[in-house]
Amino acid sequence: LANNSASSPSTHSLLRRGYSSESAPERKVTVLGAAGGIGQPLALLMKLNPLVSHLSLYDIAGTPGVAADVGHINTRSEVVGFMGEEQLGKALEGSDIVIIPAGVPRKPGMTRDDLFNINAGIVKSLCTAIAKYCPNALVNMISNPVNSTVPIAAEIFKKAGIYDEKKLFGVTTLDVVRAKTFYAGKARVPVEGVNVPVVGGHAGITILPLFSQATPKANNLSGEDLTALTKRTQDGGTEVVEAKAGKGSATLSMAYAGAIFADACLKGLNGVPDVVECSFVQSSITELPFFASKVRLGKNGIEEVLGLGPLSDFEKQGLESLIPDLKSSIEKGIAFANKS
Ligand code: NAD
Ligand code: LMR
Repeated sequence: LANNSASSPSTHSLLRRGYSSESAPERKVTVLGAAGGIGQPLALLMKLNPLVSHLSLYDIAGTPGVAADVGHINTRSEVVGFMGEEQLGKALEGSDIVIIPAGVPRKPGMTRDDLFNINAGIVKSLCTAIAKYCPNALVNMISNPVNSTVPIAAEIFKKAGIYDEKKLFGVTTLDVVRAKTFYAGKARVPVEGVNVPVVGGHAGITILPLFSQATPKANNLSGEDLTALTKRTQDGGTEVVEAKAGKGSATLSMAYAGAIFADACLKGLNGVPDVVECSFVQSSITELPFFASKVRLGKNGIEEVLGLGPLSDFEKQGLESLIPDLKSSIEKGIAFANKS
């Protein structure tokens, strides 16, 4: 083997891959809603992540096919598909991270809140199972309306006596991904190096990109440009819903964003220092009990919820206007979880 690796670059890189897998700890990642529009490409991207050792794919239908397909990819993780409620416990047992893109997507003309009636119930039952089968897992909530589904999850976990605010995340990474893309386009800077925090929540005006803190700094953007960039980021989801014309909402960019966020959680769990991403979490940086801002990830989930930093007057106004909207979505989620 030593000879082979010395003489053949491909064997050499295979061995190196072997080493890196062996040194990374075992991590089980479970995707709930894995056969859906987001679930399938997210399953693919998590299969490509060398930090994952076990990939568990659960849905009410279709998962055996997705698991068989993704499972043939020659990367580290073992893939198992689970289908139907009676297999949910097995899917969840031992999970380090549970990613939830289960639920219905929007059609043109709908708000995210219009999904509440169906998705709130789905999230409630999935979180009840998480509390039972993997109470220590980090939960990455993608299902909309995130501004309400995260509070629902928190209440369900509290009722089950397992709530740990450091382990519950609303995934708002797609807002950051969009803000970076749109900013780079307008400022004409290479997108790879761009950073833009996005705070608040994940619907309409509750999405507040902080372009005043964007890096690299751009001196070529007017106030009008910044207003337009803000609006485009806030309406990014609707832009995709309308372009898909009834065939759902963002799936591919969301899978990418979900994979970025799960990777950050895995790195945090594995002790990589200074892993920071924006997420909608329990928070005391505003008057609201949940708020999206930068969070530092660590071995137990959230290590620190970071403050907002200096805001421009335009952003201060945006923050003030989003509070009532976000407050009522949070309260709606809490009320739903406690009514039965
Ligand atoms: P989809 O309809 O294509 O897929 C949803 C999947 O969930 C389906 O496969 C369905 O069978 C499954 N499902 C339904 N009930 C389930 C249950 N009880 N248990 C397990 N699986 C269940 O929808 P999609 O396009 O993948 O979107 C999923 C959700 O993600 C929607 O609510 C959408 O609004 C949301 N979303 C959020 C963001 C974000 O930024 N957070 C971005 C895009 C979409
Ligand atoms: C998004 O931002 O793309 C998602 O929240 C889906 C949607 O309904 O817009």
